[in-house]
Amino acid sequence: MDQLKPAEMVRKLDKYIIGQHQAKRSVAIALRNRWRRQNVKAELRDEIAPKNIILIGPTGVGKTEIARRISLLADSPFYKVEASKFTEVGYVGRDVESMVRDLLELTINHLKTRAQEEAQPKARELAEDRLLDILLPKAAPPPRGFQLKSANAGENASVTEAPQEVSSNTREKLRRMLKEGKLDERDVEVNVSGRSTPMVEIFSNTGMEEMGFNFKDMLGGLLPKNTKKRKMKVHQAREILIQEEAQSLVDMDKVVKNAIEKVEQSGIIFLDEIDKIVGSDGRQGPDVSREGVQRDLLPIVEGSSVNTKYGPVKTDHVLFIGAGAFHTIKPSDMIPELQGRFPIRVELSSLGKDEFYLILKEPRNALLLQYQAMLETEGVTLSFTDDAVQTIAAIAEEVNARTENIGARRLHTLMERLLEDILFDAPDMTEKRVVIDKKYVEDKLKDIKEDEDLSRYIL
Ligand SMILES: Nc1ncnc2c1ncn2[C@@H]1O[C@H](COP(=O)(O)OP(=O)(O)OP(=O)(O)O)[C@@H](O)[C@H]1O
Ligand SMILES: [Mg+2]
Repeated sequence: MDQLKPAEMVRKLDKYIIGQHQAKRSVAIALRNRWRRQNVKAELRDEIAPKNIILIGPTGVGKTEIARRISLLADSPFYKVEASKFTEVGYVGRDVESMVRDLLELTINHLKTRAQEEAQPKARELAEDRLLDILLPKAAPPPRGFQLKSANAGENASVTEAPQEVSSNTREKLRRMLKEGKLDERDVEVNVSGRSTPMVEIFSNTGMEEMGFNFKDMLGGLLPKNTKKRKMKVHQAREILIQEEAQSLVDMDKVVKNAIEKVEQSGIIFLDEIDKIVGSDGRQGPDVSREGVQRDLLPIVEGSSVNTKYGPVKTDHVLFIGAGAFHTIKPSDMIPELQGRFPIRVELSSLGKDEFYLILKEPRNALLLQYQAMLETEGVTLSFTDDAVQTIAAIAEEVNARTENIGARRLHTLMERLLEDILFDAPDMTEKRVVIDKKYVEDKLKDIKEDEDLSRYIL
C-alpha cells in the first residue's frame, strides 16, 4: 500500500506514536519518494538517487517505533540491524550484505506462513482424507459371498465394485463423525515425518552463502527422511496432518519469487546506531574499520545486486532508515558518498511529562491498556484516575532528568514497579476492581524516586 499519501500515513502513525510530527512527515515523504521513483520513466529513474533517511534523537523517543509502524502500514518487509555489529571483531566486508539476505529470509518465512494459512481449508480436507485412510481398515476381508462369486465368474469388476461402494458409504459416515469431532478421542497410529536431526542445527550458514549452497539443506538432503509411527489421539493427529499438508501445498518457488520481488520493491532496512560506524576523531584502530563499514554499505544503499542462496536481490529500491543519537558526531562526519545517500534528516525531540501522559493513555497499544488487558484475563478490572496518570508521567520525567534519560522506556519500568503488588496478587484478590489514584502512585513510587541510588537500580 505504498500508495498511501504522506498525510494519510502520518494520520495512521498518530494512532500509535505521540508527537514527533516532523519525523513522521519525513518518513512518510521518504516512503512516498520511493514509490515516485519507481514510477518515473526508466531513463530518468536511474538518475534519481535513493532518498534514504536518518532519524536523529536520544534513546527511547520513538525512532524504531516509527520505522516499524510505517513498515506495517505499507506492508513492507522490515529488518532492523545494529550497524555497530559490523564493526565488531571478526567483521568481514561481505557481512554487510547479510542484512539483505536476512531481510529476504524473513520475508520468505512471512510469506510462507501466510501461504500456509491460506492453504488451511484445503489442507484440512486432505488431512481428513488421510485420517480416514488410517481409520478405515484398508483390506477388510471381503464378505464370503463375493469370494464365491469371484471364484465362479472371475468378474473382477463387480467383485471390487461392491465392497468399494460399501466402504465409500462408511467413509462418508466416518467423515461426518470426524468433522463433528466425535472421533477426537480415538487412538490412531500416524506416520509423522521427523524433524531434521538436531546435529545439523549446529552448523550455521554464516559465511557459507557465498559458496552458493546451504549446508543445512545439503546435509538434510543426504540424511534419510525419517518418518516415525506415532500413536496419538485423532484430534492431535488432525493438527499434525493439517500442518504437513499445508506445508506441501505451498509452492515454495512461488513464495521465493514473491519474496524477492517484495524485498526489492518495498523492503525497508533499519540501520540502528548508524552513528556508531562514524568515526568520532582521527584515531587509528577501530575507526579504520568503521569507515570500512561505511564503504561496504555504500554499494548496498546505492543499489546493487546481492547474491543470496535464492538468487540475486537488487537493492535499488530498498529504503534505508538510519537511526542514531548523534551525540558527539554529526551526520556530516560520515563519508561524503554515504551522506549523499541519506539526504533526509530529521531530529526527534526528547519527551517530557506531557508526552508521557499521552503515551500512557492514547496509543492503540497504550501501556495502560496493556496492563488492563492482562489483568482482565484474571477478572481484575484496573482503572486509573487522571491525576494518577499525570503523576506517573511527572515521575517519569523527573527520574529521567535525575538519572539517565531513557525516554518512554522509563514508563515501562515505572509501571512494573507501580503494579507489582497487583500483578502478584491478582489471582487471589477478592476485590476485583482496582482503582489506581494519585495517592497509590505516590505511595508506591515516591520513596524510590527520591532516593537517587535506589531509582538507578529499580526504575
Ligand atoms: N513518541 C512516542 N509515542 C509512543 N510511544 C513511544 C514514543 N516514543 C517511544 N515510545 C515507546 O517507547 C519504547 C521505545 O521506543 P523506541 O524503540 O522507538 O526507541 P528508540 O527511539 O528507537 O530508542 P533507541 O535509540 O534506544 O533504539 C517503545 O515501546 C515505544 O512504544
Ligand atoms: Mg531503537
